[in-house]
Amino acid sequence: HGGGGSYRSLPRPTVIAHRGASGYRPEHTIGAYQLALDMGADVIEQDLVPTRDGHLVCRHENDISGTTDVADRPEYAARRATKRVDGTTLTGWFTEDFTLAELKTLRTRERIPRNRPKNTLYDGRWAVPTFEEVLRWAEGEGRRRGRPVWLHAETKHPTYFRGLGLGLEEPLARLLRRYGRHRADSPVFLQSFEPGSMRRMARLVSSPRVVLLSAPGDRPWDFVEAGDPRTVADLITPEGLRWIASFAQGIGPSLDLVVPRDASGALGRPTALVRDAHRRGLIVHPYTLRNENSFLPADFRRDHGLPPAVAANEYGDVFGAYRRYF
Ligand code: G3P
Ligand code: CA
Repeated sequence: HGGGGSYRSLPRPTVIAHRGASGYRPEHTIGAYQLALDMGADVIEQDLVPTRDGHLVCRHENDISGTTDVADRPEYAARRATKRVDGTTLTGWFTEDFTLAELKTLRTRERIPRNRPKNTLYDGRWAVPTFEEVLRWAEGEGRRRGRPVWLHAETKHPTYFRGLGLGLEEPLARLLRRYGRHRADSPVFLQSFEPGSMRRMARLVSSPRVVLLSAPGDRPWDFVEAGDPRTVADLITPEGLRWIASFAQGIGPSLDLVVPRDASGALGRPTALVRDAHRRGLIVHPYTLRNENSFLPADFRRDHGLPPAVAANEYGDVFGAYRRYF
């Protein structure tokens, strides 16, 4: 497929560093993003959630119990709360209950120390970054390297946050405009599991958009809230893809939707999804290729110079990244 904005000229396979080099540094820290870039990733991924005062910060979840030292901070003990987020009950500490100034007093730490014990060496080193800080960092690195640093920012739980009066899309659009990343050829992808969030972004900025798709049977949370009966299975049909292509430039399917595995974990035959998406002109950013999910076939490892085996304490993301090789 040809034509279109500069995202189509990214190298293939494109290495998208998932949460930064999250196999090697605590995820979503400037340290993880910097290492990913230094390791040669083409694009650096962020997940975005809001603070109480509406700033966008980089965390995979609004529950920050496991990725910061908040549980050890007596001054915030009373902020512990139980909430329902997209149909799931969670107990912990949540970004939307902290101002940015308060959140900045916390220190980040490794989310899964059992899998990534070396990362705990970096516990306490970095604060939670704002998306604005990441844009500034990318700008500086871009100048230094003489080429733009691509970002891949995800709006997390947008319907839930809108219900709290904390819309994600408007502040995101404002930041993209401020840093000149609001155009169709800007070096930033926007992504969400909620198609409605990407439709909203389409009205605000032209930056390339990717609709994330999860395992068959799932329903995007904005569909659930709006009583829209469509499931992910409906969205991966040629008709569903045509609808997505009316406001987005790509899809981000979970790996199971692209290359199913049988009960033993062996790879099956690829589905028609990538072909059908390409026919609609959509790019495909499948997630997530990790050493720890043993997805990568031996010939792919060989062809791309990846290590054949995985050291026990290094089984994070492959180069903290997933690769688009379709
Ligand atoms: O970009 C796709 C991927 O980020 C979706 O997975 O890690 O945000 O749950 P995740
Ligand atoms: Ca993500």
